[in-house]
Amino acid sequence: MKPKILVLYYTQTGQLKQILDSMLSGIAQLAEIDYCEIKPVNPFPFPWQSATFFDCMPESVQQISEPIEPLHIPNKSYDLVILGYQPWFLSPSIPFNSFLRSSQADFLKGKKVITVIGSRNMWLNAQESVKKLLIGLKAELVGNIVFFDRNPNLTSVLTIIRWTFTGRKEATKRMPEAGVQQKDIDAGSRFGPILFDALQQGRLNELHTTLLSANAVEMSPALVILEKRAITNFRKFSLFILEKGKRGDPARKGRVNLFKRLLFVGVFILSPLSSLTAGIAVFLKKRSLDEAVQYFKNIRYKENAL
Ligand SMILES: Cc1cc2nc3c(=O)[nH]c(=O)nc-3n(C[C@H](O)[C@H](O)[C@H](O)COP(=O)(O)O)c2cc1C
Repeated sequence: MKPKILVLYYTQTGQLKQILDSMLSGIAQLAEIDYCEIKPVNPFPFPWQSATFFDCMPESVQQISEPIEPLHIPNKSYDLVILGYQPWFLSPSIPFNSFLRSSQADFLKGKKVITVIGSRNMWLNAQESVKKLLIGLKAELVGNIVFFDRNPNLTSVLTIIRWTFTGRKEATKRMPEAGVQQKDIDAGSRFGPILFDALQQGRLNELHTTLLSANAVEMSPALVILEKRAITNFRKFSLFILEKGKRGDPARKGRVNLFKRLLFVGVFILSPLSSLTAGIAVFLKKRSLDEAVQYFKNIRYKENAL
């Protein structure tokens, strides 16, 4: 009998669907694969308007749900559920978080699950939140695969800004294509056979170790420091904005604008300094950061890791 796989995902531009399609391309005939797309009742328009984009930060960071469409998941006994999502403001995207917090996610109880992340390059805190939600749902996380933009941080910020606010993803004379590199998306096809073998051999408990040896999760120690700094500030600022109202409330516009300006200062002005201090910290705290990297590459969960 063919193993049954359910793929549940949200994608705004289609990048994550492309990643999932590439991953599963080699096993499409070998497994029974059903796809289900998470759709918000009020879709997030793409390309984004600047005001709407930054106004999403508080609800993303505080993981506040919004309504999603009914999912129509086939009633089958799936051997594996693949959850595809993306970070928004270092947190699970609002549509994906809304799914996990809705009763539509209850069927995940007792299911073996892998997460597939399509990010710019900052995904640690989002995955910690997802791990915690999966424990609450009594699902069993057996693997994680991370796709990210390998370009230098500032390059990836510039290209994603252009993509996000104009919809233009393609390379220019001076800048590479935005998002996860096509060659990494294509190379994602190596993961399908790994999933299939683990399913066939009933060895899903060893799946993540095999995925790691196929470089499913690559990260630098500096990411731990940079994400910790950023999420600490985002948590405070999100509460400050929420004091003024919910998403879309004009009363919070001033605070959202302030956040936007500070973020630009952080990214474009303080970023070289921030990278330098993170580099020094990596050197000074090598042992504890190596342990942190091992933790974040893995799938177990401990409270307050960031
Ligand atoms: C509102 C918003 C916030 C984002 N924040 C992050 C982030 O914190 N970290 C990150 O690595 N990528 C971030 N991204 C990039 C997304 O994770 C993702 O790679 C991109 O939006 C394409 O995903 P898609 O498959 O939904 O089109 C953000 C994108 C959006 C739209």
